Amino acid sequence: MRKLDVAGPRGIIRRYRDHLPVGDDTPVVTLDEGDTPLIFSERLSSKVEAEVWLKYEGLNPTGSFKDRGMTLAISKALEEGSQAVVCASTGNTSASAAAYAARAGMVCAVLIPEGNVALGKLAQALVHGAKVFEIEGNFDQAQKLTQQMSEQHPFTLVNSVNPYRVEGQKTAAFEVVEALGRAPDLHVMPVGNAGNITAYWRGYREAHELTWSSSLPAMFGFQAEGANPIVRGEIVQDPKTVATAIRIGNPASWSGAVDAATSSGGRISSVRDKEIIEAYKGLAEEGVFVELASAAGVAGLLEMHRAGAVPAGSTIACVLTGHGLKDPDWAMSTAPRPRKVEADIEVILAQLDMA
Ligand code: F0G
Repeated sequence: MRKLDVAGPRGIIRRYRDHLPVGDDTPVVTLDEGDTPLIFSERLSSKVEAEVWLKYEGLNPTGSFKDRGMTLAISKALEEGSQAVVCASTGNTSASAAAYAARAGMVCAVLIPEGNVALGKLAQALVHGAKVFEIEGNFDQAQKLTQQMSEQHPFTLVNSVNPYRVEGQKTAAFEVVEALGRAPDLHVMPVGNAGNITAYWRGYREAHELTWSSSLPAMFGFQAEGANPIVRGEIVQDPKTVATAIRIGNPASWSGAVDAATSSGGRISSVRDKEIIEAYKGLAEEGVFVELASAAGVAGLLEMHRAGAVPAGSTIACVLTGHGLKDPDWAMSTAPRPRKVEADIEVILAQLDMA
């Protein structure tokens, strides 16, 4: 049977191989990640009097942006003869590592902070066969342990300190530039371990060097107020936020985030949990389901608008890092219960006030 034609190569390694550290012998471990939609937001655009585009990274194969870096990190680990990978995670990295390691036939060990990983992410890591350890400690402690494991034992570390992760993730900036025909004026996103803002800034700079865009964006990153070490300029020993994905007190790519913000004319700031929750609800109201951490960028954008810091008519890319289905517990805790009724149309219509 003839295969359907596809509109070009799938997966970020095949699509961008000339711009990634791969050779003819690099195996390609892929789930066709990337090529995510850039959705125009009518609601946010009118609110902030600018053009707001949402880069919906929740539509990657495992439901977060991590897949872009993981396809490359796992492919390179396989090329280098590694048989096992390890990562510390607030959830999404472990879900992605577990899926790509399963595909590559590699062992995957993950260390997660006990009680602070959303259910969907934990389910993913378990279903894909990772060896999951809930440590009695936070993400920063898990990160230290995985660093030691990779230095002293035959595990390849696939956290974003692995340079291939950032290389893979920079392709999201390429896609934004392709979709808009140039870089946005402002780029806003959440910041946790700070690998992703480092990656976007690299992607935009490369796109500029390649003349895909004549301009560069100002980069704005947002940490949760209770987990904002970069804003404070010091490690937060006991980070706290409802947005568990970015509950990080000592980010590995700290300097990358500072460099992105300062050299682009942007900033790293904090947003309150309350604002994150509001932004989460607002996105849901326009049909876009994200996890809490993903709403931090939107919360930050709204805060910037209130402070008069959004130039009227500017073009803004806002990254939505993970899918809302990752965290069904949070979603259900704030949503109304379904109504139990008889299987009777009149009863249902009466309840809808439409009888
Ligand atoms: N949004 C989501 C949904 C995340 O899962 C993360 C990080 C971030 C934003 C922040 O990105 O770390 O590159 O600044 N999650 C990591 C994990 C830490 O383990 O899944 P960052």
